[in-house]
Amino acid sequence: MRPTGAFPATRMRRMRRDNFSRRLMRENVLTANDLIFPVFVLDGEQRTESVASMPGVERVSIDRLLLVAEQALTLGVPALALFPVIDAAGKTDGAEEAWNPDGLVPRTVQALKARFPELGVITDVALDPYTSHGQDGLIDPRDPRGYVMNDETLEALAKQALCHAEAGADVVAPSDMMDGRIGRIRTELDRAGHIHTRILAYSAKYASSFYGPFRDAVGSAGNLGKGNKYTYQMDPANSDEAIREVALDIAEGADMFMVKPGMPYLDIVRRVKRELEVPTYVYQVSGEYAMLKAAGANGWLDEKACAMEALLSFKRAGADGILTYYALDAARWMKSGA
Ligand code: PBG
Repeated sequence: MRPTGAFPATRMRRMRRDNFSRRLMRENVLTANDLIFPVFVLDGEQRTESVASMPGVERVSIDRLLLVAEQALTLGVPALALFPVIDAAGKTDGAEEAWNPDGLVPRTVQALKARFPELGVITDVALDPYTSHGQDGLIDPRDPRGYVMNDETLEALAKQALCHAEAGADVVAPSDMMDGRIGRIRTELDRAGHIHTRILAYSAKYASSFYGPFRDAVGSAGNLGKGNKYTYQMDPANSDEAIREVALDIAEGADMFMVKPGMPYLDIVRRVKRELEVPTYVYQVSGEYAMLKAAGANGWLDEKACAMEALLSFKRAGADGILTYYALDAARWMKSGA
């Protein structure tokens, strides 16, 4: 099957010799079209807070987010993924704030879509910003180990997704890993006439320690405490299980399929794209960003070169799109040709 050749007739370095021939044989390219920018939004006005474990990432109020959105559009980044920072008063055991039509997420969606109708707006569907315990679902009050209940959580997620769709979200992105949530959400959206609202399923979401800085960013780390998400997020040891998860989400009606985290899971991205042939996304998560930032700040790595190499590696593995905190920087670097 593979063409064979042998030295000295075959010299692999011949094509690498000059810039023109290196460019001609390049198999994958990264463009701004591949990028989704995750953003953290706060209540109030004229507010900007930095995130200690994610240098360069800020939590901003809606008025300031509009400026960020404008930059994204100018740079050709197609979509933002919204993550709300909910203050302690908004967190309850039942996560009721998650489907408040006047809540932070619906207000943010409305503001973004009113000002920039062409910008893709993706919302996260999971209860963790809203629960007093920091879990993505509702906890069984009778269970001493605090099991996160599946079917009861589905009802909450369906209400949350509908609330986002009613506010005008283009894409809802369930990141909670409950069984059956894609089907339940699709039914809820369709029943209300939201047949065009897309679902980006976090299908293969692993119980990863690389999410640490994100939990600081949204302020759920303290609530979660020593808790973990092992009873619903996937075991990092597994690969076939990811294929089953994606297959289920295909059957339930998702439009886009995510693998998360990114760089430690390139093999999963590859398998999903190769074996299931679906629109495949990958999330370069907070911990991956923090590592690159920290090494760059210390002068141990060339941050820009390493960040761009990591993003290109997602494309090579088969990703159609990448959620990355580097989205705007990467788009800017590509534009300046640097
Ligand atoms: C929670 C959620 C998490 C991330 C996105 N949505 C964290 C978690 O599952 O605890 C992580 C993103 C990142 O680390 O950048 N539903």
